[in-house]
Amino acid sequence: MVQLTLPKNSQMVEGKVWPKPAGATKLREYRIYRWDPDDGRNPRIDTYFVDLDDCGPMILDGLIWIKNKVDPTLTFRRSCREGICGSCAMNIDGMNTLACTKGMDEVKGPIKIYPLPHMAVVKDLVPDLTNFYAQHRSIEPWLHTVTPAPETEWKQSRDDREKLDGLYECILCACCSTSCPSYWWNGDRYLGPAALLQAYRWLIDSRDEATGERLDNLEDPFRLYRCHTIMNCAQTCPKGLNPAKAIAEIKKMMVERRI
Ligand code: SF4
Ligand code: SF4
Ligand code: FES
Repeated sequence: MVQLTLPKNSQMVEGKVWPKPAGATKLREYRIYRWDPDDGRNPRIDTYFVDLDDCGPMILDGLIWIKNKVDPTLTFRRSCREGICGSCAMNIDGMNTLACTKGMDEVKGPIKIYPLPHMAVVKDLVPDLTNFYAQHRSIEPWLHTVTPAPETEWKQSRDDREKLDGLYECILCACCSTSCPSYWWNGDRYLGPAALLQAYRWLIDSRDEATGERLDNLEDPFRLYRCHTIMNCAQTCPKGLNPAKAIAEIKKMMVERRI
């Protein structure tokens, strides 16, 4: 996974060092990317000190503490705070991950936090995921059938259900796609690992009856074939999933249907 370091001629301006909380004895330093599109200034890194005796142990706990106690303008997404909603994805200590499931004790030295890489920034740590969600929508992530719907439910054998393991757990956090160099350079045309993992989840669902159309939709030099098996996606996924493997399986299905 690529470590982010700013070039010497970076356009970042000097950030603010916020005062240490009075009376605190156990402190943790956070260095956080800040950018407000409305203030007309270049981005900066602000430094904060979190009182560990007054704060939970996860990186997200520290962000919430800073927002509540020091600087209410700090902007980030979060909801479930237990690794389920995917909203708190950000680049922490050089890796894309979820702030709510990463412990402060997993990072040595100051905790450096940036928004997910190579995405337009809405504000501070909030990336613009419009294109990411549109790509997910483009793979039509729902069941397609031609057989009339059964009266009760679409049944699936235990074995067929197990084929969805390692796929259905995806929370669409975008950590994988924003760690993928192919997605960085061609994110407008390459679907990226998250959308492709989802595409495979529907391709191998035994109840789905649109496999041919789904493969047709992916048969394109950019949408699928920009994956060069660099494997950043699998290394960074906070849910332990392997999008690169799913992409390889789709490519295999493409070959098999030509035979
Ligand atoms: S595959 Fe993993 S990293 Fe990618 S969107 Fe899903 S949960 Fe996030
Ligand atoms: S394996 Fe493919 S999808 Fe995953 S990071 Fe590499 S190029 Fe991107
Ligand atoms: S807040 Fe939901 S995954 Fe982190």
